[in-house]
Amino acid sequence: MTRKITVNMYMTLDGYGEFPKYPGSDIPSKEPGEGFTDMWIKRYDSVDTILYGRKSYEGHVAVHSESARKASDPEYLFEFSRFLGRCQKIVLSHFLKKTEWQNSRITKGDLKRIVARLKREPGKDIIVDAGPSLVQEFIRRGVADDYRIIVWPVILGRGKNYWGSMLKQQTLKLLSVKSLKHGELILHYETLQARKS
Ligand SMILES: NC(=O)c1ccc[n+]([C@@H]2O[C@H](COP(=O)([O-])OP(=O)(O)OC[C@H]3O[C@@H](n4cnc5c(N)ncnc54)[C@H](OP(=O)(O)O)[C@@H]3O)[C@@H](O)[C@H]2O)c1
Repeated sequence: MTRKITVNMYMTLDGYGEFPKYPGSDIPSKEPGEGFTDMWIKRYDSVDTILYGRKSYEGHVAVHSESARKASDPEYLFEFSRFLGRCQKIVLSHFLKKTEWQNSRITKGDLKRIVARLKREPGKDIIVDAGPSLVQEFIRRGVADDYRIIVWPVILGRGKNYWGSMLKQQTLKLLSVKSLKHGELILHYETLQARKS
């Protein structure tokens, strides 16, 4: 079995990536929500590598590394930080010279080659946790095996748009749809072309 590459995406209905506020979005909880559970917790056993865009990497070190955790954080976030700490973290950047997080390394170059090399390495599945600019490249190059998308119930989002300009149609197979309690959807799609290669 080759390692599967899943792109995690969080977006407004019109495809923007900045986290918006809407009723229910900012209610703190000691327990993980269903979205967090599906996107992360259920995958702790099958995933051992995270691929970040440089900006997402910097955001995650600052908020989700074990050393950044606050004593008041809920236990499930400590568990998330321990999971990220033990994962291999690949950071895509043209300019970054060093990384501070354990088990992380920097890479650059042709995305298809980077993905092909990662797939040849032994290991479990891989999650791409990047912002819209790197995710767009994954979509354009058709190198993901599947997409897990949380759609927030907001139109006219802010920040960068995930869809950008696409060069050709990509046909997806819908694997599941789930609606969450504050109106979000989780869409899980498989990419047909990646499956055949
Ligand atoms: N909705 C979400 O799930 C989500 C997730 C993450 C971030 N965000 C939002 O998106 C914003 C950041 O957006 P972003 O899309 O620019 O972040 P990003 O994709 O995480 O990082 C972009 C950076 O990744 C590097 N990169 C991308 N492709 C590369 C390649 N082929 N080779 C080498 N390096 C490559 C470049 O770093 P260098 O400049 O170092 O070359 C680029 O500036 C944040 O403000 C945040 O609010 C949203």
